[in-house]
Amino acid sequence: MNILIVGAGGREYSIGLAMKRDENVDKLYFAPGNGATDELGENLSISDFGELASFVEDNGIDLTIVGPEAPLVDGIVDLFIDRGLTIFGPTAAAAQLEGSKIFMKNFLARHNVPTAKYIETDSLDDAVKFIGTLEAPIVVKADGLCGGKGVIIAQSADEAKVAAADMLSGSSFGNAGMSIVVEEFLDGYELSVFAICDGKDYIVLPAAQDHKRLLNDDQGPNTGGMGAYAPTPLVDDEIYQKLKERVIEPTLKGMEDEGMPFTGVLFIGVMMVKGEPIILEYNVRFGDPECEEIMPLLKSPASELFYKAATGNLKNIEIDFYDKYAVGVVMASKDYPYKSSAPAEIVVDKILHDDLDDNSHISYAGVDRGDDGKLYATGGRVLVCVGIGDSISQARDRAYMLVGQVHFVGKQCRTDIAYQALGNS
Ligand code: AMP
Ligand code: GLY
Repeated sequence: MNILIVGAGGREYSIGLAMKRDENVDKLYFAPGNGATDELGENLSISDFGELASFVEDNGIDLTIVGPEAPLVDGIVDLFIDRGLTIFGPTAAAAQLEGSKIFMKNFLARHNVPTAKYIETDSLDDAVKFIGTLEAPIVVKADGLCGGKGVIIAQSADEAKVAAADMLSGSSFGNAGMSIVVEEFLDGYELSVFAICDGKDYIVLPAAQDHKRLLNDDQGPNTGGMGAYAPTPLVDDEIYQKLKERVIEPTLKGMEDEGMPFTGVLFIGVMMVKGEPIILEYNVRFGDPECEEIMPLLKSPASELFYKAATGNLKNIEIDFYDKYAVGVVMASKDYPYKSSAPAEIVVDKILHDDLDDNSHISYAGVDRGDDGKLYATGGRVLVCVGIGDSISQARDRAYMLVGQVHFVGKQCRTDIAYQALGNS
């Protein structure tokens, strides 16, 4: 089977690694890929969806997998389906679950999926009135895609009013903020739960926990995610069952009933509040860096999972995962998340160490290959060091041993990934 992966991050690299382990996969392509995906397959510099579909037709590509949300919201799946091609991901209509927070909140409310109390509005007066009914902190969200930055956790009612006014005037997030959601703050711990969906049926993947803040102890600014681990012991069978019955099944049925069946990855951002899962948000793609830990745990052939989901056949497969844990530590460049940093050569020590070689690897993200053939960090989140083990602590130790072997100027990482599962050990 020939496979095209759309995207350029560590998430797409890790899907590529899972495909490399799969003997059903012949040729891999990435569009556009990054400076390291060229070791797994061929990078294509084609961004136009129509041109990409033509490449797929001309090169006998059997399955396209879309990593990031932007092409999904922009309709890549619709175009490929119109051309009779097999593609894994939701249509533009179904991708509204991520593309519009107002659509998502109203959908959750219509289908009785538990979520924070909210209003959606484009009126500052209404926003101010609702803010007056809430206790601080208060959450203000721009409706549209803002590259993960459109959520303000205001520490006072006044701060919430300013955030709402800035969004509604278009000054903070342009058109994406012309409508907003204001909602109550949920106090608890966050989980990332993923279901691979084929429109009707679904497979729940091992639940993960991300670490969104830049610094240890969940301090500092929000980022795309500084590290994750899976499966997390913070989700037990009872919580999985609640998520299936109260969240995933009503969502799939609701999307089907409303004429936009959901195919692809349903990423459920969960806040556990007093033992109950409350939904913060949906995304319509894998989390990054969560994907980098979940993919290595997949024992069944990755191509089969994605192909069967894309063709509506999940009912007929068994998917197995290794009985192991994975911990991923993000190494970011010096000025992340504030600004990009100057390119820096990446050097990985070649230490002979069988245990580490067999149980850890790097998923590359923000990297370019220089004319000299070397890899350079190009800013943002550069790579993820992933350790695998029989326990979370063993996986964590292997991930950090690998971190110690990776060098580039200005590298930064958290040193406490998986702390909620391990205590502060
Ligand atoms: P979102 O893009 O909606 O996931 O929001 C980004 C981050 O903001 C989430 O991962 C949470 O850490 C935080 N957040 C969003 N909504 C709430 C809420 N209602 N209560 C507490 N934290 C929230
Ligand atoms: N790691 C969180 C996200 O991908 O949105």
